[in-house]
Amino acid sequence: MELKQFEKYTPVTTENAEYVRALAEYCKYSARRPRFHLTPPCGLMNDPNGLNYYNGAYHVFYQWFPFEPSHGMKHWGHFVSRDLINWESSAEILIPTEEYEKNGCYSGNGIQIGNELFLYYTANYNTPEGKVPKQALAIMSSDGKINKYEKNPIIDEIPEGLDRAIRDPYVFKRNGSFYMFLGGGTTAGQGRILLYKSSDGYDWSFQGCVNISGLEFGYMIECPGIVSVDGKDVLFLSVMGLKPEGDRYNNEFSTIYLIGHLDVDNPEFHVEAYDELDKGFDFYAPQAFYDEDGLPIFFGWFGCGCQTLPYMKEDMWVHGLTMPRRISIVNGKLIQSLPEKAAAQYDTAKLTDGQAIPLKNSFRLHIPECEDKITVIQIGEDGDCFKITVDRERGKLTVDRSCLKERFCREYGEKRSISFESEKKICLDLYYDNTFAELFINEGEDVMSFRAFPESLAIKMR
Ligand code: FRU
Repeated sequence: MELKQFEKYTPVTTENAEYVRALAEYCKYSARRPRFHLTPPCGLMNDPNGLNYYNGAYHVFYQWFPFEPSHGMKHWGHFVSRDLINWESSAEILIPTEEYEKNGCYSGNGIQIGNELFLYYTANYNTPEGKVPKQALAIMSSDGKINKYEKNPIIDEIPEGLDRAIRDPYVFKRNGSFYMFLGGGTTAGQGRILLYKSSDGYDWSFQGCVNISGLEFGYMIECPGIVSVDGKDVLFLSVMGLKPEGDRYNNEFSTIYLIGHLDVDNPEFHVEAYDELDKGFDFYAPQAFYDEDGLPIFFGWFGCGCQTLPYMKEDMWVHGLTMPRRISIVNGKLIQSLPEKAAAQYDTAKLTDGQAIPLKNSFRLHIPECEDKITVIQIGEDGDCFKITVDRERGKLTVDRSCLKERFCREYGEKRSISFESEKKICLDLYYDNTFAELFINEGEDVMSFRAFPESLAIKMR
């Protein structure tokens, strides 16, 4: 098809909608499409937004620039599912049509209020002096139609001492009131979570910044979120400007979970434990919500920052979301797992003499115990493979992408590791879905998400 160039801040209009449809048709048959992960019809997908189980269906919105596989005018794309397995694309999306959102509909979440789903987002508004922060509301009614609130923006102030880049509303309920987190940072460059309160979801008042037990995280916090997990509060932060600390925080931006208790009155988050949420290469901006049974679950963005991935220019689409992940707390650690039905979609590769050739380009590899001193799992042929090495003596597990033919994002390193007590029993579950890999270590005590584009999927374990 003949590709067209669009100005960075172009919204979908009646004039170009046909082009977007044709582009999506062209992208449908790309060799890199995963079977189970959500990916954009065309263009670039980033953060999951507005996640909710509402009116008998799961709604997954996402940051979407339709015209090219790059960051541009962000829309909210939309998928719907009854079971978290079968997804359909929905035409009810957010298009930045209004003056107050002239540079895009940025991230936010959703909460049911009355019979409606309130979708909060940041109306991105750039000026030569910088961003002017504006938070906005769109309401989905039970017939599935979405309308923007006529009094938008609902918040457009910059509290004292804070930088202009305030964004990513996350609304939740506590003690009969609504609260909103916003991500931001101080003018001195320290990441902050802003807390707002409302009795009706429309009128909001600033309560202060949340003290995170005196801890500091980067120069800017994006996409803050909170869910209750096994009686504790779990806070998710997506952080810009965290310095690498050994195995941790080696990507352009990093994601942290904190277990503890949120006191909305003071506002303070009392931290009991925290860690990097996903220790792979390609993960950011997760959003947590509750499933149909009221259990906490999240999706993450299967990507991070401004990455250049192999094939994206010819594919004309890039990135996706992680599989949905259940979370629980065991021994003070957050444990992640795929919902059973989602895991059951993958065929398990059977190893014979340590080797297997998966029949499909999506498979699960289950290693109940890495028994040798050093176990090496190679996916692909020599010279075009990725490797997972478990060194029980040194207590180190490493994912290595340096042996792929298509090497990418090398500026952030080609290896990611996690450390464990030497001799500890290590069990692995690799879910590989046509270039989208999620490695669960010891039933989800640690997870590493990464893309890899080996030509062959021959598995060798030694
Ligand atoms: C995180 C983020 C958000 C913002 C959105 C824009 O990846 O930078 O802070 O709302 O992406 O697409």
